[in-house]
Amino acid sequence: MSTPQLITTTKELQNWRRNLKVARVGFVPTMGALHEGHARLLEQSRQENEISVLSIYVNPTQFNNPEDLQKYPKTWEQDCKLAADKGVDVIFAPEFSDIYFDNYRYKIQENKDSQVLCGAHRPGHFDGVLTIVMKLFQLVKPHRAYFGEKDFQQLRLIQGMVQSFFMDIEIVPVRTVREESGLAMSSRNQRLSDEQRKLASVIYENLQKNLSAEEIKKNLSQKGLQVDYVEDHWNRRFIAAHLGPVRLIDNAEVIEGFHNEN
Ligand code: PAJ
Repeated sequence: MSTPQLITTTKELQNWRRNLKVARVGFVPTMGALHEGHARLLEQSRQENEISVLSIYVNPTQFNNPEDLQKYPKTWEQDCKLAADKGVDVIFAPEFSDIYFDNYRYKIQENKDSQVLCGAHRPGHFDGVLTIVMKLFQLVKPHRAYFGEKDFQQLRLIQGMVQSFFMDIEIVPVRTVREESGLAMSSRNQRLSDEQRKLASVIYENLQKNLSAEEIKKNLSQKGLQVDYVEDHWNRRFIAAHLGPVRLIDNAEVIEGFHNEN
């Protein structure tokens, strides 16, 4: 286990990349507050590439709620330990004034799949996500990049962006990592009380049931969650709901009318 190299400027990262003479670079973009889900992405990158890059950047352009941005959990020391543990070679952690030196003048916009689900409920969210991921891809120039199915709509949009712009990057999907209760791991879960955390498993419970969207909405509301959506797209069922201070999302594959993740 060696300490990853910390790079904090775009210039330094470009220099590092220019001088790199290896066959395969794996990349895991994150917003930090790392957990087992992120760890799984890093493990896979480590297995499949000679060099693994982790980015930690809480990207303000993808937050439509200022309080959510301000309260986004930060666990820098722990993140660095986890990165070292998972054999990360480089941690890239840029500043806004550097990576958005143009003040978000240029952005990436998708006009179809970004308009439903989280895109419909979080205006501008996916413009922010796609723009930062495009910037990071241009800087890191990875051969493979790893994204969790937990954020399935994001994964799908990034796959589409890479195709549309003929980017030579393999997007590798990684299965959702869950707590024992079934709750999908998320950095925002840190903001839940113990009681809310227990309650939150009701989302996955309902995802696995063969119920109508309306029935699920009723079940979640009865438990005190405020539902943003329960909708089926791309052969999957998607749920977003607020619980206390946190907005939770999850999804699972639909198999012959039944909802299951396998
Ligand atoms: P973040 O929420 O930190 O997630 C980083 C990556 O980890 C994403 O690909 C996400 O899908 C994956 N991930 C999160 N929780 C997971 C879980 N329980 N199981 C498996 N994978 C999981 O997603 C973002 O950051 C940002 O939008 C980003 C892509 C970094 C752009 O700013």
